[in-house]
Amino acid sequence: MATNFSIVSLLLIVLYLFASNVKAQRNIAIATQNKIAYFDITRYGARPGNADASQALINAWKDACASVYPSRLVIPKGLYTLRPVKLLGPCKNRVRVEVAGNFQAPVNPAQFGGADAWVKIERVDSLTFTGVYGGGFFDGNGEIAWKQNDCKGTGTCMSLPYNFRFNYLTNSVIAHISSVDSKLFHINIFGCKNLTLLEMKITAPRTSLNTDGIHIGRSDGVYIIGGTIRTGDDCVSVGDGTKNLHVEKVTCGPGHGISVGSLGRYLNEESVVGVYVKNCTLVNSDNGVRIKTWLNSYQAVASELHFEDIIMDNVTNPVILDQTYCVYNQCKARVFKRIRGTSASKVAIRMVCSRNVPCQQVVIGDINLKYNGIDGPAVSECGNVNPTIIGQINPSPCTKRVSDTA
Ligand SMILES: *[C@@H]1O[C@H](CO)[C@@H](O)[C@H](O)[C@H]1NC(C)=O
Ligand SMILES: *[C@@H]1O[C@H](CO)[C@@H](O)[C@H](O)[C@H]1NC(C)=O
Ligand SMILES: *[C@@H]1O[C@H](CO)[C@@H](O)[C@H](O)[C@H]1NC(C)=O
Repeated sequence: MATNFSIVSLLLIVLYLFASNVKAQRNIAIATQNKIAYFDITRYGARPGNADASQALINAWKDACASVYPSRLVIPKGLYTLRPVKLLGPCKNRVRVEVAGNFQAPVNPAQFGGADAWVKIERVDSLTFTGVYGGGFFDGNGEIAWKQNDCKGTGTCMSLPYNFRFNYLTNSVIAHISSVDSKLFHINIFGCKNLTLLEMKITAPRTSLNTDGIHIGRSDGVYIIGGTIRTGDDCVSVGDGTKNLHVEKVTCGPGHGISVGSLGRYLNEESVVGVYVKNCTLVNSDNGVRIKTWLNSYQAVASELHFEDIIMDNVTNPVILDQTYCVYNQCKARVFKRIRGTSASKVAIRMVCSRNVPCQQVVIGDINLKYNGIDGPAVSECGNVNPTIIGQINPSPCTKRVSDTA
């Protein structure tokens, strides 16, 4: 009897403790529902005035990422130097990084110790990484690196660090960040899902080598909205495995323009499905929108590519479909609509497909491109393609037939 009693009372005590614990937890959760935990890098030893903020940023990130409450990582105004850093998830809750300060990268590529990025952010869900109060400049100090990057001479490009690599981010926003003079590509997006890049400013001289603005690969649902990209290479380049990419209201140029590819260089590349470029302006760039696949490429699938409401301002090759080989005829549905402005070369529209597998489902509609030069009007060249025409096309479609080289 006595034993039974003590067992029952023990059970009651355990039950009571359990219940009150649950209640206490719920109380904390309610009390902190609107609470945000702040982590300021100057509390972690960072000092504006060009001092190295690397360790402070990493430590502040670790605490922000480990916070059970939504956190705000604050980088106050001022200039900081930064060695290569990795900000890694997964995090316990949402993290918002507010960058009012500006950062300088080491000038000498050797100081990167082989790191492939200056700032790498990986495996974070619900991240916001934003410039605030006019700050958020990340100067990659690429001048020396560009001189060392002898692609043409050596056939291979030095593996220099990118300014940013965003890997496996989900449901996240990168906004109002200025990426300046990266040593190689500015921003690489890999393995991301539902990532928005809002009002980004990317700049490098037009003579700088391989300073692509934003490269996307193996990602689903990337939105690049607003902003300007002026570089020495592609403005936006689309690699294999890109799905549902939206580029809207972006101004590009100088640089090589917006390009899909090169696809088909390697075996087992994933398809590109759904690229929607809308309301963009291209200025003084080499290409407008370009689709390139390798000659004799592996199976490269690129479908649902739409380029609409694009303004070209002195662009060398405004519309260029450079698809000389496309096996199994799986490169489907390319639409170029409402494209107007000026071409810096006579050939304003060039579409050259493979003789063996002609291009199908190419639609061009409402195009008005004028040649900037004085030696006659703009022309358009076609090879192995009979585009569907909608509305007015100037220059007239396929004024010149050309043959492919395959
Ligand atoms: C995409 O991410 C944004 C930003 O975090 C979020 O507000 C939105 O709900 C997400 N969309 C989906 C479909 O999950
Ligand atoms: C998008 O482009 C269309 C056609 O050029 C234009 O009417 C519209 O105003 C543009 N929208 C924005 C938000 O720029
Ligand atoms: C147009 O582009 C060409 C070639 O890129 C360049 O040489 C020329 O200066 C540009 N014209 C203007 C008005 O910007």
